Formats: sequence, structure tokens, C-alpha cells
Amino acid sequence: MSDFKSLTDCYTLSNGVKIPCVGFGTWQTKSGDEAENSVKWALESGYRHIDTAWIYGNEESVGKAIKDSGIPRDQYFVTTKIFNRHRGYKDTIEMFETSLKNLGLFYVDLYLIHWPNPLHFRNAFPRILSGTWRAMEDIYKEGRARAIGVSNFCVRHLDALFEYAEIKPHVNQIRLGPGDTKDDVVYYSRKNGLLLEAYSPLGTGELLKSPELKEIADKYNKSVAQLCIRWSIQMGFLPLPKSVTKERIEENTNVFDFEISQDDVRAMWLLKGNADTWHPDFVPW
Ligand SMILES: NC(=O)c1ccc[n+]([C@@H]2O[C@H](COP(=O)([O-])OP(=O)(O)OC[C@H]3O[C@@H](n4cnc5c(N)ncnc54)[C@H](OP(=O)(O)O)[C@@H]3O)[C@@H](O)[C@H]2O)c1
Repeated sequence: MSDFKSLTDCYTLSNGVKIPCVGFGTWQTKSGDEAENSVKWALESGYRHIDTAWIYGNEESVGKAIKDSGIPRDQYFVTTKIFNRHRGYKDTIEMFETSLKNLGLFYVDLYLIHWPNPLHFRNAFPRILSGTWRAMEDIYKEGRARAIGVSNFCVRHLDALFEYAEIKPHVNQIRLGPGDTKDDVVYYSRKNGLLLEAYSPLGTGELLKSPELKEIADKYNKSVAQLCIRWSIQMGFLPLPKSVTKERIEENTNVFDFEISQDDVRAMWLLKGNADTWHPDFVPW
């Protein structure tokens, strides 16, 4: 069940900040026309929540599309992330300011640590995270990020952070989709008040080839993409579907006029073949 009726309905973070219930993804969206057009179409289709990252290389284009839309600042939600070479207090502040400048914003709505255990600092994360998190807390206290959080954090990374966090992260953005539900991380994040954002809710496109999902989607007269986004919402996740195609961007917004049965929600939870191959302690970046 979900009470959400449109893209502008919101989850409420543990600090009271409202976050629109579906975000628009921009990973692998090329800077320039592709990013500008896709964000423009997303905003025209009703999205008010855009997810980017410094490493995507498209912050400037995302910022330009948002500015050109003329939508007032308090009516959209922007997330960006600090990448893996950048850790520690000073570097975090500098990278945050670079992202703000790229986006052309005075503040972001959500700032995330992209990965917990970067290759460059591998297995030094308990120490490396502390300076980074202190900087994130200062950015938050100054009002330059309305919320702060993490991405790709497993239970042990969260535990390391909780050792010294004065402010607990508000969000954990992880890969979640049918057949990839990371139950331990989901349980632990929720227990600690973090909202789960579901990245790659379409399995970066791979889930759209699943005959099992197609069979379920047909029952509801929906596409597999719409089914996956709806499933994510019904699971209590915040999905971040990405597309650079105008028709698909629009299609992915039509997810509020049907309800997946509990039997089908469960069948999708148990789906085989969508396991995550990017464990944060082993990724080569
Ligand atoms: N924090 C992290 O480490 C992390 C990692 C990965 C992703 N993310 C975030 O999550 C977002 C989404 O994840 P993702 O980029 O992996 O992909 P995704 O949203 O799971 O899937 C995107 C793919 O599906 C295609 N697609 C989208 N809607 C479709 C539709 N209705 N019909 C047919 N095909 C459709 C897109 O094609 P076209 O674009 O060609 O239309 C693209 O190839 C990212 O963009 C990013 O913002 C975060």
C-alpha cells in the first residue's frame, strides 16, 4: 500500500524535510544537450526531485536545466554526492563547494557520501569517514544542505559512522529492485531512521527484459518499468529511475493509478537474476 498519488507527494526525512517520492536519475546521462533535455523533460513531466553526483560530470547541465525551468527554488529537490578520491574535512568542504558552483545553487537538498570504502583508501573507512562526516555535519548546520546522508553503505559502514556521528544520516541510497532487496541493510537503515532510496530501480535497464516481470506487468496493463517503479514505492523505497528518452520519462511518471497485489509484490521480491554485483568493499573505484 502507498498513499502517494503524484510525483510531488513526499516522504518525510527524520529531520522533518520533505522529499518527493520519486527522483529522476542522471547517471550515464551525458553533460550538455542530453542532460539538459532530459532534466527539462523530467521537470515538464512533473518530477521535482533530481539525483546527480559530482562523478556523473553533468552537474552544470542539470543546474542549467533547473534554472531554465523557472521553477521556484523551494519547489524542487536536488541531490548530489561526494566521490571517492575526496575524503577528510577540508576536501569535503571544497568538493561540496565545487558541486554547488557547478549546479549554480546556494544550497542542495541532500548531500551524500557516494561510496563508503573507496579503493584509494580501502579499509581505512572508519578513520577516513570521520573527517568527511564532520564536514557534512557542518554543511548541514550551516543550512547549505537541507539533509545529509550516505550511499552504498552496508551495516558495518553505518556502524562505523554511528560511532562518531553527532547527526545521523537521513538517507541511505542503495541499489534496490525486484530480486535485490538487501534485507539486512534495509532493516538496519530503517531502524536507525534512514530513508532508503532505490537506485537502479530498473536494474539499469536489465530488469525490463525479464519475462516474469512482463507477465506481472501485463496483468495491470502497465509496462515493466512502471511495474518496477510502483513496486519500489509500495516497498517504502524512494525510486530514482533514469531515462534520456522523452516518452520513457513521461511513461515512468504514470505509476500512481494502480496497486500491485501483495502476492505479486512478494513474487517480485523473490525474483531471481537481479543480484547486485557491486559490493562496496570490492568495487574497483
Ligand atoms: N549512488 C549510486 O552509487 C548510484 C549508482 C547507480 C545509479 N544511481 C542513481 O540511480 C539512477 C537510476 O539508476 P540507473 O541509471 O542504473 O538506471 P535505471 O533507472 O535502473 O535504468 C535506466 C535504463 O532503463 C532505460 N529505461 C528507463 N525507462 C524506460 C522505459 N520506460 N522503457 C524502456 N527503457 C527504459 C533507460 O534508457 P534511456 O535512458 O536510453 O531511455 C536506461 O537504459 C541513476 O541514474 C543515478 O541517479 C546511483
